[in-house]
Amino acid sequence: MDTSTRGTWGSRLGFILAATGSAIGLGNIWRYPYVAGQNGGAAFVLMYLACVLAIGIPVLIAELSMGRHTNLNPVGAIKKLSKSRLWPAVGYLGVATGVFILSFYAVVAGWTVAFVFRTLFHSTVSFGDFLADPLSQIGYFALFLGLTLYVVLGGVEKGIERWSKILMPILLIILLGLIAFSLTLPGASSGIEFYLNPDFSKITGSTVLAALGQAFFSLSLGMGTMITYGSYLSKKENVITSAVAVGFTDTLIAVLAGLVIFPALFSAGLEPTQGPGLVFTVLPTIFEQMPAGTIVGVLFFVLLAIAALTSTVSLLEVPVAFLVDQRGWSRAKSVWILSALVFVVGIPSALSLGAVSGLTSMELFGQTSFLNVMNFLFGDVSLPLGGFFLSIFVGWVWTAAKAKEELSIGADSSSTLLLSAWGILLRYVCPVVILIVLGQKLFGF
Ligand code: TRP
Repeated sequence: MDTSTRGTWGSRLGFILAATGSAIGLGNIWRYPYVAGQNGGAAFVLMYLACVLAIGIPVLIAELSMGRHTNLNPVGAIKKLSKSRLWPAVGYLGVATGVFILSFYAVVAGWTVAFVFRTLFHSTVSFGDFLADPLSQIGYFALFLGLTLYVVLGGVEKGIERWSKILMPILLIILLGLIAFSLTLPGASSGIEFYLNPDFSKITGSTVLAALGQAFFSLSLGMGTMITYGSYLSKKENVITSAVAVGFTDTLIAVLAGLVIFPALFSAGLEPTQGPGLVFTVLPTIFEQMPAGTIVGVLFFVLLAIAALTSTVSLLEVPVAFLVDQRGWSRAKSVWILSALVFVVGIPSALSLGAVSGLTSMELFGQTSFLNVMNFLFGDVSLPLGGFFLSIFVGWVWTAAKAKEELSIGADSSSTLLLSAWGILLRYVCPVVILIVLGQKLFGF
């Protein structure tokens, strides 16, 4: 298909901001701090950095190279690079995973909007009661999906890129302001100690597992998001330096989010290990005790909503690009039909945290509640599985040698060394490590 009708990024910064916007989301600001808190703080942070460098960035480069080479969505890209009838299944898995992740991610993202209002109006409704109210859950979910639909409808340059350009810098500024505030709280230093001074005795097998999973989720890898975003990238750009910039910025934002949350947590004498409730249950109580807490709290949840929106946009864009490229649908038709589908698929998730008892108490794969089952299946299992296949596909089927030809377009000569390191990481380290981690998770070996 002609790339000029399909859409490209309007500028280099536009692509970097959009890809960074996809990567930065609830994963960085909500998931990363609680996973770090549960896994020993600073020791986890070190393992996480190692996973981003050794596995995350190589898979990111692999996805971007496939996308830019083929100018296509995940299914189309794989079909173009291999005659095999089996490999496209990995692309279909990615497209479906986009729909399913979006269906519960937008529910959680809806809470961020709700918390802007809860904080602003000092709502006395408990978090539990809020989750159990079907009208709120469906309403905020639908609202967030509507916002996502609106941005994606605008297309690549006028929609995704323009919004990312405005929203991402605002995000960074709000975050820096919050850190400055958080560090002045009494007792903040013990939070810094926990977060930045590693206790190596805390590194265990499960720390590594948690770190790898978090790296995949946070960098938006394993379902073809970065194949799709790479497909709008011009041949003039340096894919390697772009990938490193995206990986670095995403990691920076997560690390900064930790600097907001841990000083505040320790200052208030709260436990870092409490899990997914960290942001939504603890931070509001901290904001309540702080001077100017209403303003700080509102800013924080605005920030979280902004970050989540640029991520939901990238989740929807994958199946949209699939329908536009492979089925010849218009962007508008694809966006509307997919949004309706995501809404229907997401209803049980929205109702599964107290509203409908059957969905709330259901247990499957060691997970409780429909939303957590979806999160496990499509976040924890499907993404690393996709990453495993994609690293084999690019490394051995399309071959790292051909991918390097694509990657050297737009790159400068200093990239040669980086490229050979990349080839080794992608062909050997990524598949082996991911296999071990997934095997651990699923079969306990
Ligand atoms: N990376 C985003 C976050 O951290 C979530 C996300 C967006 C994502 N697109 C993705 C995760 C694709 C996996 C795959 O919140």
